[in-house]
Amino acid sequence: MNNGLVFSGVQPTGNLHLGNYLGAIKNWVDLQNKKKCIFCIVDLHAITVSENRKKLKENSKEVAAAYLASGIDPKKSIIFVQSNVTGHSELAWILSCHTPIGWLNRMTQFKDKAGKNKEKAPLGLYSYPVLMAADILLYKSSYVPVGEDQKQHLELCRDIAQSFNRYYENEFFPIPEPIITGSATRVMSLKDGTKKMSKSDPSDYSRINLTDSTDELRKKILKAKTDSLPFPDSDQNIENRPEVNNLINIFCAMTDSRKELVLKDYSGKDFKKFKEDLCEIVNQKISVISAEMKKLLEEKGYLDSILNDGIKKANEIALDNIKEIKKIISFYRI
Ligand code: TYM
Repeated sequence: MNNGLVFSGVQPTGNLHLGNYLGAIKNWVDLQNKKKCIFCIVDLHAITVSENRKKLKENSKEVAAAYLASGIDPKKSIIFVQSNVTGHSELAWILSCHTPIGWLNRMTQFKDKAGKNKEKAPLGLYSYPVLMAADILLYKSSYVPVGEDQKQHLELCRDIAQSFNRYYENEFFPIPEPIITGSATRVMSLKDGTKKMSKSDPSDYSRINLTDSTDELRKKILKAKTDSLPFPDSDQNIENRPEVNNLINIFCAMTDSRKELVLKDYSGKDFKKFKEDLCEIVNQKISVISAEMKKLLEEKGYLDSILNDGIKKANEIALDNIKEIKKIISFYRI
């Protein structure tokens, strides 16, 4: 790893869940001790889906609270809300002129989200990955810690950065590397191990929210789908058992333990015991985060002051870089 910046973000769409925590935020907490990090609340992305446009302000603050409650330290990292730094939209336009439509046509997330109604999908949903590339490149970031579902968007971001650099014959943008680490880079639904745990799943029983109470957590984990086979004692015995695999991965990620050891500890025991222990482990962590989130959200003015400071710092970097980018493109200036 070089000295480059780390950038990542979460959409303020409500229902922050264990996948967001284990796939992204948990890994950021470690990274901030090693690198300069910028963590964004990407509200411009959230408005690409109409249902998300309603409680933007509250949801943005909730994400900020989740960052802090999970251990992101505003003295070490920049935390801010995307729409307050105009460089994101400005660079997204510039980069869209370096993005062939064919590249966007390959994006599976657009296909999933637009569904059968592609003709009626908003343009913003289609060009979403270009805005994501702009988020990262605006700060000339080198590393992007995310869950596995963002891999394709990051590959596109790298292609766009290379395309810009090639066109202007310079190395202005670093080519950012994804950081996809941990045992739970893709946390699956508790009801269907072949589907990603997601904010938009209509069933609340499919996910563990960061704001769930101890009771809710317990019910969800104890009811999580498994199968009638015994607890696996090796990787081979997990094959074709996506729900079991998911719960074990969550266990490993929450306890930072290796899979072989967890399999050894529980082999021969029944799932009830494993699930009881998993409840305990998840609850220990999540109850602390949710209590802290609640406290931060009730503390008047505190989150605003952190975000205000973050906006100023992010804007300083963004303005400098946008100036450079405009010089490279040779836009008219007085
Ligand atoms: P979003 O808001 O959907 O998710 C935020 C982060 O959580 C990860 N994640 C998961 N990880 C593991 N298992 C899951 N089930 C799961 N669900 C979500 C995501 O991978 C992500 O890291 N496009 C991004 C937001 C974004 C962004 C950026 C990220 C906009 N600009 C620039 C990095 C850099 C998104 O929709 O994340």
